[in-house]
Amino acid sequence: MAFPPAFMDELVTRNPIEDVVSQYVSLTKKGGNLFGLCPFHGEKTASFSVAPEKQIYYCFGCHKGGGVVNFIMEIESLSYPDAVRFLAKRAGMEVPEDGAYQSRYRQQERLWALCGDAARFFRQQLFLPTGRAAQQAILQRGFVRKTVNRFGFGYAPNSWDALITAMQEKGYTKQEMLDAGLVIKSEKNGRIYDRFRNRWMVPIIDLRGNVIGFGGRVLDDSTPKYLNSPETVIFNKRRNLFALNFAKKTKQEMLILCEGYMDAIALHQYGFDCAVASLGTALTDEQANLLSKYTNCVVLTYDGDEAGQNATRRAIPILEKTGLQVRVLRMEGAKDPDEYLRKFGADRFELLLRQSENQAEYRLQSLQRKFDLSQDDQRVEFLKQAANLVASFPNAVEREVYGTRAAEAAGITAEAMKLEVNKAYKRRLSRQKKEEQRVQLSPAVAQQPKVRALRYDNVRSAMAEEALLRMVLREPALFAQNNNLRAEQFSSPVLGKTYQALLDRYRQHLTVSLAVLEDVLTPEEMTHLTAVVQKEEPLVSEAAFADYCNIIQDEFRRKNLSGSEDLLAMRNRLKDKKGYGG
Ligand code: GTP
Ligand code: MN
Repeated sequence: MAFPPAFMDELVTRNPIEDVVSQYVSLTKKGGNLFGLCPFHGEKTASFSVAPEKQIYYCFGCHKGGGVVNFIMEIESLSYPDAVRFLAKRAGMEVPEDGAYQSRYRQQERLWALCGDAARFFRQQLFLPTGRAAQQAILQRGFVRKTVNRFGFGYAPNSWDALITAMQEKGYTKQEMLDAGLVIKSEKNGRIYDRFRNRWMVPIIDLRGNVIGFGGRVLDDSTPKYLNSPETVIFNKRRNLFALNFAKKTKQEMLILCEGYMDAIALHQYGFDCAVASLGTALTDEQANLLSKYTNCVVLTYDGDEAGQNATRRAIPILEKTGLQVRVLRMEGAKDPDEYLRKFGADRFELLLRQSENQAEYRLQSLQRKFDLSQDDQRVEFLKQAANLVASFPNAVEREVYGTRAAEAAGITAEAMKLEVNKAYKRRLSRQKKEEQRVQLSPAVAQQPKVRALRYDNVRSAMAEEALLRMVLREPALFAQNNNLRAEQFSSPVLGKTYQALLDRYRQHLTVSLAVLEDVLTPEEMTHLTAVVQKEEPLVSEAAFADYCNIIQDEFRRKNLSGSEDLLAMRNRLKDKKGYGG
């Protein structure tokens, strides 16, 4: 939704980006800017910068950038309007909501409150005498009191309406209970009844700490073993991960992903505070993206059965697509992490974790499976491909270890393999160097935006457009010159759109800054523009401004001319074909 510009202006002013970012990243001053370790990708040297003067952030490593709203969207995983609300709250401002959005957000708030109250109700029930059996089941499974508290375990009593009655007393309507998925409506008589009965309840909590749903496990061996909340307005199974609210704070360099939330809970109890679980569905792109915001490496610890192994194979490419490093932990003697920990303890699991197969091993094995190594010709082909694969590992020790392993598999000496790997490695390096040179030698390529969709059609004009934007951001008064420059004349739609938005703001006497354009620009566009603005503009003057205007208008005219020339040429060709003489 669009918030009033004046409100956004105040919001951005009252949430200085350096203050907001400092709450997440420790920043040090270097020149006019502040630097810190990028919260969006793992790094050891600080390439994340905040420019207080421009009110934007930019990472030179992963090229993420934007204003303060964008930063909150990224780091808190919030939508645009929710990020605005978050910052409004932070600055003690009232949000001017418009009708539809307001009512939807109100509804969400009601459902969060309802689920929170339901969790408290289940929790109380656990400690009543009627909750004894559930307590016992929890204890028998080896969960300690601390875990019970941390994860907010509860008990849904064996009743058709205990929750309904309790929540009605708190002022919630039956419709709200239906909307939250806590009750079910009978198809026969339309009456509603508690969805969860006689179950051990585990609240599912989102990144902001709201209870959004529940998992309920039977106390014995009856079926269905688990009953989970359905999808609701607040519970999106594709976009949430169990325990990520805890795991996001871990000091570990990895996140452990398991299949069942009981596994994640057991891992936390045994000290692995980096465990998360998907919510009864296959891993989604959204979940993979979410994980990649908090870590560089995911260790898959799915069940050892066939279903678990298939799920592992499917999850790997989904995770890798986001740039995550993927490792697979395989267990012997237990079906899942929970069982393993209870049987063998935390130390043994820690060992497995350290040795968990990394992608190098997995990929080498996958390659090996494609060949019949008893055949000479296949062995040769395998070795060729294996050398290329091993050469692509960035780490020398890895190249050594896996080179040797491939050699063993194919029955050649480690030395022979090493030679092959080295050759392949050198080929790689020289290819890379050539590629870098190509980029440097060709300014048109170097100046193109990282995102393909934003590519410039006319680099000459685009460079002028970029410079012009840098200038007006530094000196908005340049807008006052009557230059007849129109947004349509820009060769790059995104730069033109930005120019127009800034000009509108200038005319309305609002701040001319990128930080307030988040509702006009997509996150990719914002990222690109922050990169553009990072470049220094040596000369900010009326004359330079006029020069750039001329270039843009020049190129625009040229394009239109050549466009009509093309048309003319085409018409002539057509005429020729049809035999009309010129
Ligand atoms: P325990 O027997 O309690 O150790 O279960 P588990 O944690 O080993 O779970 P399992 O590997 O059987 O299942 C993993 C996940 O699949 C669970 O967390 C549930 O989300 C889901 N699941 C398993 N069984 C059921 C079921 O009967 N119904 C539903 N809806 N989901 C299930
Ligand atoms: Mn289990």
